[in-house]
Amino acid sequence: MNSRLWRASALALTIAALGAPALAQGHAGHGAPAAAPAGQPWLDPKLDADARADLVVKAMTQDEKLTLVYGYFGADMKPKYTRIEGSLPGSAGYVPGLPRLGIPAQFETDAGIGVATQGSAAQFRERTALPSGMATTATWNPALAQKGGAMIGKEARDSGFNVMLAGGVNLVREPRNGRNFEYGGEDPLLAGVMVGAQIKGIQSNNIVSTIKHYALNAQETGRFAVDSKIGDADARTSDLLAFQIAMEASDPHSVMCAYNRVNGHYACENDWLLNKVLKQDWGYKGYVMSDWGAVHSGAKSVNAGLDQESAGDAFDKQPFLASVLKADLASGAVSQARLDDMARRIVRSLFASGAVDHPVKIAPIDLVANGKVSQADAEEGMVLLKNDRDVLPLALKAQKIAVIGAYADVGVLSGGGSSQVYPAGGRAVQGLEPKTWPGPVIYYPSSPLKALQARAPQAKFTYNDGKDAAAVARLAAESDLVIVFADQWTTESEDVASLALPKNQDAAIAAAAKANKNTIVVLETGGPVTMPWLKDVRAVLQAWFPGTSGGEAIARVLTGEVDASGRLPVTFPASEAQLPRPTLDGDPKKPDELFAVDYSIEGAAVGYKWFDKKGLTPLFPFGHGLSYTSFAYSDLKTSNEGGRLTVAFKVTNTGKRAGKDVPQVYVSPKAGGWEAPRRLAGFQKVDLAPGASKTVTLTVDPRLLATWDEGAHGWKVAAGDYEVQLGSSSAAITARASASVAAQSVPVGLLK
Ligand code: BGC
Repeated sequence: MNSRLWRASALALTIAALGAPALAQGHAGHGAPAAAPAGQPWLDPKLDADARADLVVKAMTQDEKLTLVYGYFGADMKPKYTRIEGSLPGSAGYVPGLPRLGIPAQFETDAGIGVATQGSAAQFRERTALPSGMATTATWNPALAQKGGAMIGKEARDSGFNVMLAGGVNLVREPRNGRNFEYGGEDPLLAGVMVGAQIKGIQSNNIVSTIKHYALNAQETGRFAVDSKIGDADARTSDLLAFQIAMEASDPHSVMCAYNRVNGHYACENDWLLNKVLKQDWGYKGYVMSDWGAVHSGAKSVNAGLDQESAGDAFDKQPFLASVLKADLASGAVSQARLDDMARRIVRSLFASGAVDHPVKIAPIDLVANGKVSQADAEEGMVLLKNDRDVLPLALKAQKIAVIGAYADVGVLSGGGSSQVYPAGGRAVQGLEPKTWPGPVIYYPSSPLKALQARAPQAKFTYNDGKDAAAVARLAAESDLVIVFADQWTTESEDVASLALPKNQDAAIAAAAKANKNTIVVLETGGPVTMPWLKDVRAVLQAWFPGTSGGEAIARVLTGEVDASGRLPVTFPASEAQLPRPTLDGDPKKPDELFAVDYSIEGAAVGYKWFDKKGLTPLFPFGHGLSYTSFAYSDLKTSNEGGRLTVAFKVTNTGKRAGKDVPQVYVSPKAGGWEAPRRLAGFQKVDLAPGASKTVTLTVDPRLLATWDEGAHGWKVAAGDYEVQLGSSSAAITARASASVAAQSVPVGLLK
């Protein structure tokens, strides 16, 4: 059976009840050594990570090197799999340490929204969940992403983990991808900056963070078999650029290669991706770990650049980087120098991260304080898509308010799969399908209804579950105001069949809107959905999966206690017909059947670039989002500072209340020649009091003005005139300026 399905079916037997937060077992930590013990100079914190790695690899036996490159699953999947002793129960992975040499074990946990629990842990960890990655990206506020990362990284450290399997930076090439909620949207600059900021926050806890899934892992349907077909230049100008920008911002100590194939070779045995691009072109010094069940060979993988096999005992067909590698070393198929390099990269990351000098130790977690960090992120990530006649912020005077659907009486939805974080207080809704992998479906116990009620004790709130459109219409007709909550559960391992809201929710919204013109819709979805009822409702707030304080955050945005300041990190299509692939490739019923997805259709023209190129009008454009105040842009100027295009402009809050805006700069070569008419070249979140102004100055990354030059193996900026566009979304450009740019070559390596 396919390894991931094996995990799935095993998990089916093992989902346990929620319990207390305490971990059953821990491992002792000790303080950072002041000086190296005699004979162990690599433990001297004054030496740099490279020198320390060189020294310790020299002291290792062959078996010790092999110990470092092979990982185990960290969770039980009874009856088929019992976790190895030493791993943390319910964890994603474990790599034994080398106590003789002072090298700690690697304790690995998922992932991007917080500390997840895997498999049949007798007790799930109760941890803080940030809003989804998509929601965090929608803040367009890297400082907030970094704070969130620092918070979940601290929870990881205090839970005993020194490797966090975050952040996901796969671009949204496929809006139906079930994992889009984990990622950073569709634009390489925005995704790179935001996910990079999160990783930086995580690693500020002296632990390793693992950027993933490298690369071109853009759909879940057939994820173990799909071959992503794309040209070198297109890949480097899109998905790989997102990785590059995120890595420049954060220097992640590990990279996770993906399940899929890329141009005919599995990502974890892909010489072009791992050796050529990552290690040679970008000069990456950390280690490449496989995704769980993504290894298909020994020598081929290792010689292509894979450094560590994850959970090989549970998910791969053979222990490729264990006994198979031993045989490959004996036969000469893998060189000793390569094994030394693998071991060296892993220990280098453990030194560079601080995981050796600052051993992890289980410690109490302040869920209340951390909940506030999650809430601030959720509040800034919510996107006000529509607000006719300023129906929002809500004026909560004495009135009859109907709250309908999506279990808004008890909680908010979260996304499914390995990144699932279990909340304090247990699940708000029990018994939902699927109960087992990739479920359970979890609503966090943070009720939007209760949060609204607390703010309007004089109003009469009535909740209806939204399942019967006729009942919805009756309640809406007798209410002064109707707030319909609608959601779409998305999850790892499955894509959504369509962008339409499931469970007849479109009918419920239409019924409410028909019965009451004061109808507001709040969406809790992983990504874009279609909205056939859009013209009939007053307002739409996109709340994504808003995390463990999501109900409170929704109430604060709806009532205007905070401004609505999120902006879309992804285009909302009007229909699937507008997509590069109107029908999803692959067959969910045949997960092992090899097939290809042709990403050369859009090439690097991902998301809004595709819409621009094709002249398509989406439902909502990339970058869109309303505020409760208004902003004006003026004084747009371009200059050339130190050879870099620099853009300056003034933003003024022209409204009556304080608010946050995200002015966006796009560039477009007058001579054409790019994958699409324009690219996002810069943005900044600004916070302004009414009447206040701020001058924003942005320097454009030269790669965003360049095209990939195969012959020169680098980036080339063509000399000429470029139009600089300033706007509040990719479709709302309010000022334009011209810039004359000189020819420039930009090297292939990471820019610091
Ligand atoms: C996912 C990874 C995750 C790993 C460990 C895989 O199925 O693709 O994102 O980190 O499992 O749980």
